[in-house]
Amino acid sequence: MRVVVIGAGGHGQVVADILRGAAAAGEAIEFGGYLDDRASLSFDQSVLGMVSALPHVPHDAAIVAIGHNDTRARVSRHLETAGERLAVARHPSAIVSDSACAGPGTMICAGAIVCVGARLGRGVILNTGCAVDHHSHVGDYAHVGPGARLGGNVVIGDGAFIGIGAVVLPQVRIGAGAVVGAGAVVTRDVPPRATVVGVPAKALQAVPLRVAR
Ligand SMILES: CC(C)(COP(=O)(O)OP(=O)(O)OC[C@H]1O[C@@H](n2cnc3c(N)ncnc32)[C@H](O)[C@@H]1OP(=O)(O)O)[C@@H](O)C(=O)NCCC(=O)NCCS
Repeated sequence: MRVVVIGAGGHGQVVADILRGAAAAGEAIEFGGYLDDRASLSFDQSVLGMVSALPHVPHDAAIVAIGHNDTRARVSRHLETAGERLAVARHPSAIVSDSACAGPGTMICAGAIVCVGARLGRGVILNTGCAVDHHSHVGDYAHVGPGARLGGNVVIGDGAFIGIGAVVLPQVRIGAGAVVGAGAVVTRDVPPRATVVGVPAKALQAVPLRVAR
């Protein structure tokens, strides 16, 4: 299966690397080049053109490798409406339970662990070395950052972002579009679109201001 990567930035290059790694491990998948609307990215001969060129580029599927959750959702929906098939990219070093499932367009990076009964929505990013423990659910276009850890039965809402190395305790629910700061330990549910940081995690607005002396 020849897969064109939409987005040639840092995350796009990670996803191309996943596809190459999967091919080297014997999977019937092939990196088919990048498409990107930023003309400045013509530095790389693998950038074949703008995203609108997709129908003219040989491919069996595409994958939207744009780190920004809302943009990834918008571009993915546009392509699916146009009849494009979105692939799942899974690095050969990822450990994924046979009972886990992943929606179209989901990217599982090197060293990620997905445990029994976990469900990943559409266009999810599971970044390098993160862990999604048993029966957790990661919503559509959410991003679990590098080294982040989700306990069992966690629910991550659509479009939420979990920062590098954050920990979400078992059964905690993170609302849609919420942001968990790098290194946070989330012990309680987080409302939609809230940003939380720290140990234990608190709303960013609630972080005490420094007092001028
Ligand atoms: C939480 C986060 C989104 C906040 O970003 P922001 O809104 O730009 O916030 P600012 O950088 O202006 O910081 C606001 C305050 O929160 C503090 N803060 C920011 N991030 C923090 C974190 N992760 N943990 C603890 N405190 C944090 C800052 O020190 C600052 O405090 P101050 O006002 O006392 O100086 C961001 O800092 C973060 O953690 N992003 C995650 C990045 C990441 O994991 N990327 C992965 C890419 S693959």
